[in-house]
Formats: sequence, structure tokens, C-alpha cells
Amino acid sequence: MKKTVEHSLLFARVYEQVAGGDIPRESRPVFHLTPLTGWMNDPNGFSYYHGQYHLFYQYNPYDTEWDAMHWGHAVSHDLLHWTYLPAALAPDAPYDSFGCFSGSAMELPNGKQLLMYTGVRQEGGDKGYEYQTQCLAVGDGKDYTKYEKNPVLDTGDIPEGLSPYDFRDPKMWRKPEGGFRCVVGARRKDKRGVLLLFDSETGFDWKYAGILAENDGRFGLMWECPDFFPLDGKDLIFVSPQDMLPEGFEYHNGNGTVCLIGKFDGKQFIEEHNQAIDYGIDFYAPQTIQTPDGRRVMIGWMQNWDTCKTTGYEERPWIGQMSIPRELFLKNGRLYQQPIRELAQYRGRKIEYKDVLLDGKKELKGIEGRVVEMDITLRPADAGNPFRKFTMRFAQNEKYHSDLSFWPYESWLQIDRKFSGSRRAYIHQRRCLVADRQGEIHLHVVMDRFSVEVFINDGEQVMTATILTDSDARGISFETDGKVLMDITKYTLFDEE
Ligand code: FRU
Repeated sequence: MKKTVEHSLLFARVYEQVAGGDIPRESRPVFHLTPLTGWMNDPNGFSYYHGQYHLFYQYNPYDTEWDAMHWGHAVSHDLLHWTYLPAALAPDAPYDSFGCFSGSAMELPNGKQLLMYTGVRQEGGDKGYEYQTQCLAVGDGKDYTKYEKNPVLDTGDIPEGLSPYDFRDPKMWRKPEGGFRCVVGARRKDKRGVLLLFDSETGFDWKYAGILAENDGRFGLMWECPDFFPLDGKDLIFVSPQDMLPEGFEYHNGNGTVCLIGKFDGKQFIEEHNQAIDYGIDFYAPQTIQTPDGRRVMIGWMQNWDTCKTTGYEERPWIGQMSIPRELFLKNGRLYQQPIRELAQYRGRKIEYKDVLLDGKKELKGIEGRVVEMDITLRPADAGNPFRKFTMRFAQNEKYHSDLSFWPYESWLQIDRKFSGSRRAYIHQRRCLVADRQGEIHLHVVMDRFSVEVFINDGEQVMTATILTDSDARGISFETDGKVLMDITKYTLFDEE
């Protein structure tokens, strides 16, 4: 990690206006949030405050690389159209001069908005250590003032045996019985992640309240960006572990996401099920909120530390996108996800085909485009005799394409963006093991200019990938090995053809 220069919020706000204003709209996705300018990672402070959704993000306005973390800020009425607000936090205080890392937001009883974030300071010069502490800022939805008693949780507030260098990403909520609680990621000296709980009466005076869950060696090392919430009668922990080892098809190696489903009795979390949150290439550090109409909605960083230098990023004035916000629910003990229902409002032209026989290569009139939603159902043309392979090629022209392929005998679904225009040898393919339904599968595909999110079998699994392919590669075509019957409905989105 680099840099310890003097940062100023005012300077960042002026800079981002100028640099962000120069970025043509067509170079950005249509409905996935990108940084106003420069670099974006985790979603922060996802909240509903004074009649609109607020989303902050880990932000370096000055470059398309991670450095000097600020909090960028955007607001929305429908979670799909975002308006940028000025950057909310800059690393301009002694306790956060190394960065304002991830955190969350909450409305205070007096109507102000409270931000809680990890303030990182470096001690001992360039080769010294980064101490991670929890800090507060209070504001009106646009301007925030850092709390004069920051940090409110310092390295002395964590239990014995935990590292002071990895203590980050507070996620707060209001307790039903009154007062506030937050969960923070920490690490034992043997490198394993621990999730710590802290309580507060007022939101300002925080006290250690115990361990929510521990990494028993199954899921990577340090646990970043925790979230904890009730859903459909269970309690869910979301966490993004670093340095994971793969377990079959369930967790890929590197930086991953884990959902633990179980029950918390106030002292102990009893796990009943675990699964990856996203099975694709680009997803990390998700955060959830409860919407005013009671839905649990998640948004994630649609990128990943293992894959963030994938494709042609060098030429781009921005790097990093947020996923589409997703509604969460439980079914048969598993986490399910659906793109937020607001998306349906922005459907345009509909093209539908039923019972199309695919046997080799095929193109279908009107099935093309980069900003589209598609509902695809596949089944073997000979019942009981599945085809060997189905591929949908998209973002395609003579030079580029990406593929979504399905092998019924193996129950594999694969995303492959090797030919998407990347000049880098980072990860381009990922396979996911899907439910074996004798060659039947339902795919709900949401494409924006530079991404694809595939909701499999009504949201039982999701695969996400970014593709930075030139926008004029708009083709979609099909190829099968064996006979497949396909139903497909395609909508243009947001009046994009
Ligand atoms: C996760 C993360 C967080 C940290 C932030 C720094 O992607 O490493 O743990 O707060 O990014 O930008």
C-alpha cells in the first residue's frame, strides 16, 4: 500500500466534478453504478434515508487504482438510476490518514445520518503498521462532519489475542429492543477471521458485546465486510473471506463470498447451511438493507481483488461497478436472489420465441443487444435423452464474444470471457455446479453494457461477470451439441436497443 499525502475533502470534491464531468455517459454502464471518476471498490453505507436510497463506495478519485480511500456518494429513488453527490469522506484526519475504509450508515433518532467507517492510520513510517479503528461521521445526507471523539473503537477495544491490524468494516443496525449494534471483521493472530459484536445506546458510545461467529478454518483467513440480518425466519451472516481454498464447485480460491444460514440465540450462532453468495467471477463485499416495503436487498462490488485488472482497464477513466441490487429470500434452506423488481419498469421492446429447436448453430431475429434482459428455458428435445452442450454467445462481433455454456450431463454452467477483449491473463472462466434437472434449466440473464448477471433456476444461484468489450459487439447467437428446445423472451432495457 502506498501514499501518505495530505488529503482534503474540498479538493476531492472539486477534482471529481471536473474529472467526472469529462466522462462520456456511453462509456459507463446504463444502470450499474460506477465511480464518478477513478477507482471504486466495496459498497458502503447502503441505506434508505429521507426518502431516497444512499450508496457510498470505497473511492479513489485520483486514479484507476486502489489508493487513499475516500467515500464516494450517490443517491437513487429506484436503485437503478443514480445521481452522484459530492464525495462524503476524505482521509484527512490523523486517525484515518491512511484511508476511510468500509462501513455502514444509519438514521439517528434526531434525523441525522450516522456513518461508521474504519479509519486507518499508519504508525512507524512507510514500513510501519496500519492500525484499523472504527470512526463516526454525522451528516444531513450530503455533508458529513467527523466525530470529535474519533476513533470510537480503537485497537484496545478488541479482545486479547486479536490483531490490531485487521479490525474493519463495521455494519450497524438498530436493535428491535432499542439501541444499536454492529458487527466488525477481525482476525486472530493465526490469521483466522472472527466477527465481533459491539453495542451502543446512542450510536456514539460502543462497547464490546461478544463474538458472533468464527472462522474455524473452513473459509479462508481474514473475514472482511460482514453483514448480519434476519430473513424468512432465519439469521444470515454474509462475509467476504480472503485467501479461500476451493471446495469442489462451492468456493473458488482467492477472495470469495460466503452466506451462513442459521439461528442466533443471542450468544451463539448455530449454522445450518453455508453456500457461496455468487458463483461467477466478479463479486465481493456485498451489503444489504431492508427497503421501506420490507424487502432485503443486497448490492455487491461487481469486481473482485483476484480479477480487478482483467480487461483493458488502462484506457478507462473509471474502474469498478456495483452489481444490480438483488432481492434476497430463502427457499428449501438456501439463499435465493432475484434482480430488484424495479427493473421490470424499464423493459422496452419484447421479443419472444417458444419451442425453438436448436441443433447446431442458430441466430434469432431481434435477439441481440448489450443492455437487455432475457428469460431462457432449455429442455432436451428428446425427453430423457439430454443434449451434450448448449452455448449462448453474447457481446459478439467478428472479433469478440463471451460465452455462457451448459453441460447437462455434468450439470455445469460456465461463463467464459476469454475472447471479450481482454489483453490480460487473469481469470476469464468460471464453472458452477447447478441442480441436475435432466437437461432442464432456467436462466434469467441481465446484461448492462459491461456486465452479465445470470440468475439460475429462479435465483437458486447467481453468476456475475464484467465484460469490458467494445459496445458495438452486440450479437447474441446459440450453438448446441445435441437437440435442445428453447423458450426465450428478450426485453430491451432503458430504451437501449
Ligand atoms: C474489502 C476491503 C475492506 C476494506 C476495503 C478497503 O474489499 O479490503 O476490508 O475496508 O476493502 O478499501
